[in-house]
Order: sequence, then structure tokens, then C-alpha cells
Amino acid sequence: MLKLAAVFNTYSTTMSAPAETSPAPHHRGQGQSIDLLGKIAQLQGHWQPRVVAEMNDYQFKVVKIAGEFLWHQHSDTDETFIVLGGELRIDLRDASGSIRALHLQAGQMAVIPQGVEHKPFAQAEVKLLLIEPRGVANTGDGEAGARTVANDLWV
Ligand code: NI
Repeated sequence: MLKLAAVFNTYSTTMSAPAETSPAPHHRGQGQSIDLLGKIAQLQGHWQPRVVAEMNDYQFKVVKIAGEFLWHQHSDTDETFIVLGGELRIDLRDASGSIRALHLQAGQMAVIPQGVEHKPFAQAEVKLLLIEPRGVANTGDGEAGARTVANDLWV
């Protein structure tokens, strides 16, 4: 029993920390090659964006998604979606309430303008790179909710 416990102890201390709890590394992801799909493979679940690098005040975040998100907007910033894998639909709702959909394949991107309501949707899993300023909440303006993810978590 003791021996087994020792093995587990060694195992747990040599494993890298779970993605959920990684703080920003001192290098901020700079000066190195970053394998985006490799980073996504380390993510623990869907709708859990994690920062991989920073450029000035902007963050590059990887995320995998499946299913439907919620309508939200970011009143103080644009938001960029770059599709690395799968097929993404982003519904956009204008001030009059009319909805149109953007369809993005792997290798395609879209910039959602500041203040425009949007809702990502993935029929099957989609792998994404997001670019947005540091501090942006994934669920947009207003109160944090069940789907709000803590900010500035790295993978
Ligand atoms: Ni958004």
C-alpha cells in the first residue's frame, strides 16, 4: 500500500498542473512556437477558453466548442474567431432584431464588431483560436453566469 501511495505521489507531482489552474507564464507565450491543435488537445472540456499567448494587450485563446452558446455582446471590443477545425456558425442579431448567420470552415475567420449581439453554434465539435483584449469575459457584458469562465487562465 505504502509503495503504491509513493508511486501515485510521484506521478501527481511530475504531471503538469491541470489546464484550469495555469497562471500566465513569464514569457507570455512569446518567442516560441505554439502548437494550437496540441494546446486544444490539452483542454478538459468544451467552452473553456485558455490563453496561449499575448501580443501587447491582446490575448490569443484556444477553445473547443460543441452545441450552442448564449446570445451576448461586448460593448467595448471587437472579437475575432479563427476556425482551426470543424464548421462554426455564428448568429448575429442587429438592433432591429433580425438575425443572420456566418458560416466558417477551418481556415476561415470573422471579426465580430463591438456591440453586435452574437451566438456561436457548433453542430459538431469546432476548434477555435480567439483574439481579444485581455480581460474580456466570454459571456460578454453584464453579470457573470453559469457559462462564464474565469479569465486569464493559460494552457
Ligand atoms: Ni463573444
